[in-house]
Amino acid sequence: MTDKTSVEAEEENLLDHEYDGIREYDHPLPRWWVLIFWGSFIFAIGYFLHWSVFKRGLSAHQEYAADMAAAREAQAKAAMGDKVSEEGLAKLMTNSAMMADAQGVYKARCEVCHGAKGEGKIGPNLTDDSWIHGGGTLMDIHKVVGEGVAAKGMPAWNRQLTPIELSKVVAFIGSLRNTNVPGKAPEGTKSGSAAPAGSAAPSSGSPAPSAGASAPSASAAGSVVPPAGSAAPAAPSASGK
Ligand code: HEC
Repeated sequence: MTDKTSVEAEEENLLDHEYDGIREYDHPLPRWWVLIFWGSFIFAIGYFLHWSVFKRGLSAHQEYAADMAAAREAQAKAAMGDKVSEEGLAKLMTNSAMMADAQGVYKARCEVCHGAKGEGKIGPNLTDDSWIHGGGTLMDIHKVVGEGVAAKGMPAWNRQLTPIELSKVVAFIGSLRNTNVPGKAPEGTKSGSAAPAGSAAPSSGSPAPSAGASAPSASAAGSVVPPAGSAAPAAPSASGK
């Protein structure tokens, strides 16, 4: 309040114009109100640019997804230990959230050459038990996926994927083994060492107990080659999946 009487103050605020005897006072808005108004106006411009024009920010959904992915990443690291191992990779195969992540990587990076289900296109069929490189153990797959086969057009992925992404996608390939999706004919040597999907527990190379079959393969250490055709039906009972 000023020290003038309210009537004097009112007189000063009276505007010049008059319409049919009606006159108008000028009551400016308080400074604090005006500051808040312009402040929020300017903030809104910045906010709009940030979210809607430059799209820098993450939505709550995206933030949640990113947090969850980071948590799974940490979980995967914990499961894998410091060094990549057959057991560590097998452990990843049993985690459905991680396999879902890996499927995303597969779709984005591998599907063009290996087909939607791994049935093969430019690259070989990944769902049979024949391997051009190695004997189909997770570590063999890790090696070929990481290093690639430059001469044959298989990219090396150890630079383009983080170590964890690489391990996850390898585990995902592991889960495709012996799913026998019709596609490209088997290439390479039949190994029989590929453990049925989900049989994480036994350490690598141990023969599946219920596979009840004949000749140990020369290539893969101690693994058992089931007679042709028996692999598919035997797989579910062996894995207990
Ligand atoms: C540009 C095409 C291309 C892309 C993309 C590609 N591959 Fe391959 N991949 C190939 C070719 C070609 C071969 C066969 C190499 C050979 O004949 O020696 C191969 C071989 C492989 C093998 C070995 C198969 C065997 O029988 O030994 C694995 C495992 C594999 N790729 C996994 C992957 C994964 C996982 C990805 C994605 C991260 C991927 N590939 C992306 C073309 C590709």
